[in-house]
Amino acid sequence: MASFYIKSNPMVVAPAVFLLLALQLVAVVLAAETPSGGGGQKEFDYFVLALQWPATSCKNTGKCCPANGCCRGADSPTEFTIHGLWPQYNEKGWPSCCTDAVFNQNEISLLSEDIEKYWPTYRCGTTSNCHGTKGSFWAHEYEKHGTCAAPVIVGEYDYFLTTLTIFSKYNVTKALSDAGFVASNTEKYPLGDVVDAVKNATNSTPKISCAKKGAVKELWICFDKNFEPRDCDLANSCPEFIKLPTYEPQGVVEGAIPWIADAEELI
Ligand SMILES: *[C@@H]1O[C@H](CO)[C@@H](O)[C@H](O)[C@H]1NC(C)=O
Ligand SMILES: *[C@@H]1O[C@H](CO)[C@@H](O)[C@H](O)[C@H]1NC(C)=O
Repeated sequence: MASFYIKSNPMVVAPAVFLLLALQLVAVVLAAETPSGGGGQKEFDYFVLALQWPATSCKNTGKCCPANGCCRGADSPTEFTIHGLWPQYNEKGWPSCCTDAVFNQNEISLLSEDIEKYWPTYRCGTTSNCHGTKGSFWAHEYEKHGTCAAPVIVGEYDYFLTTLTIFSKYNVTKALSDAGFVASNTEKYPLGDVVDAVKNATNSTPKISCAKKGAVKELWICFDKNFEPRDCDLANSCPEFIKLPTYEPQGVVEGAIPWIADAEELI
């Protein structure tokens, strides 16, 4: 039983230890360095762990391809998945593209199974990264946001490992379903009660954003630099009653829609 658990979900057990070690090392190594901020950007204040509700992201899928998490049929995600871990400022805004680092898929090959499962993209096509080229969703998240996480997180492997680790530590989908908030196309839930259920599980106030008709699109949990949850202090963009739509399997659709930038690029 135990070995099956470890085998089927290795990062949940092992990385917490890795992470602690990694963070301690990082803290020691970087204590003497100045903040990373490329182009003179100052060091960030806190993290947003941005999660996406798959059914809402998948609703407008125009094209299927092997990379698109919407297109895995019965294996498509049905729980919140990771969008990114974003360094933020207490005042408005956030640093971006802080170093010259270029995403390298090989550096995270050990994590690839977990990343495919918990951090899928919901689109085909590429997105702009920091160096005037285009790349994968993961390249975008790492180059734009991950490079700004120093001195707390340094390097690509630590960025992905740390994000996966806090994601599995605060299982929002489980907290919501324990409180009776489960995926449904008919039920509507009071926003305040959903927020309370997340607060109950994390001891902090999340930010929830909605697409049309109150369908939950994103749920953000905020963390201080020691990865303790803190209030997000960001307004929800949802009506009083919200929905957690169920996933509708996507068929292959001919004729791609053009790549649409992630919402965070448009803010
Ligand atoms: C969250 O909890 C659900 C329900 O117990 C479980 O199926 C899922 O694997 C958990 N997610 C993570 C990332 O551990
Ligand atoms: C808060 O969590 C506890 C268990 O940790 C649970 O019994 C209770 O129902 C939860 N309350 C809400 C509002 O989700």
